[in-house]
Amino acid sequence: MSVRLPRDDQLTLVVAAKDHAAEAVVRVVLTHPDGAALPAWTPGAHIDLFLTPELIRQYSLCGDPTDHSRWEIGVLREPDGRGGSRHVHEALHVGDQVLVSAPRNNFELVTAAEYLFLAGGIGITPILPMVRAVEAAGARWRLVYGGRRRSSMAFLDSLAPHGDKVVVHPEDSHGLLDLDGLLGTARPGVAVYCCGPEGLLGAVESRCSGWPAGSLHVERFRARPVEDDGAGEGAEGTAAPSAFDVVLARSGRTVHVPASRSVLEVLEDAGMDVLSSCREGICGTCETAVVKGEPDHRDSLLTEDERATADFMMICVSRSRTPVLVLDL
Ligand code: FES
Repeated sequence: MSVRLPRDDQLTLVVAAKDHAAEAVVRVVLTHPDGAALPAWTPGAHIDLFLTPELIRQYSLCGDPTDHSRWEIGVLREPDGRGGSRHVHEALHVGDQVLVSAPRNNFELVTAAEYLFLAGGIGITPILPMVRAVEAAGARWRLVYGGRRRSSMAFLDSLAPHGDKVVVHPEDSHGLLDLDGLLGTARPGVAVYCCGPEGLLGAVESRCSGWPAGSLHVERFRARPVEDDGAGEGAEGTAAPSAFDVVLARSGRTVHVPASRSVLEVLEDAGMDVLSSCREGICGTCETAVVKGEPDHRDSLLTEDERATADFMMICVSRSRTPVLVLDL
């Protein structure tokens, strides 16, 4: 896989600390080599770690957004993963330099009357700064944090001061989360935030299907399973990719996107310098404005509501429902 690196927004940081956060989870602290202040970020933001030129991974920032001296991430070792977490656990050491992108937020904290946070396993990482923010704002909130067992659940110490606003729910002693009890009745005005494994996300999405539009906010660490893409979209959502043309509005140039290639790949083949990172529709780096035509959104970022109105698309995975797409490139 060839990967194009963002250039304008990348920083070289130093691994200032790396410690055990839970069974198979490490907390990594990154600082500027000169001690300079790091760019601002908001709860829900993630950064790209350029572990090797072809190993770029996204991790949520889980520290304190008001502390500009350091960024913190939590990384779960995934033995069956694609190598990113293994690299962090085994090859990234205190004192190492690592290329990092500026923070990007696809999981923004909205203003709401009340918040229900649902975290599964390492999905707690983007939720931590959200909890701090809503607590500081005096909002009503509750966090239900599930995990396989207590020893595998990271950052419990930092949640302890919140008392019974946090429900810690290890599966081995408490069973599965009671999602029907938590989400079975729609509660207008409550913002639901969920991050965790696909099984949890899919179950929460289905329980929230009757909630007011915009109530549910999810973040995926992996691309949404293909079979889920069709949910609510009708038969076209699962249709096999078809070919289409892309017109580049700034130059007037036209490129053909065959069924077997992504827009991003075709543009790279054509010599265009297009930013990308995850290349699977989860990070938002390749977001591109659509001038004309109807995108066929296949990313794992946009909600169904956003898909209906978005005038942009993730060109690493999304395609076109019209024979021609005009992009702001
Ligand atoms: S490169 Fe990550 S969404 Fe396209």
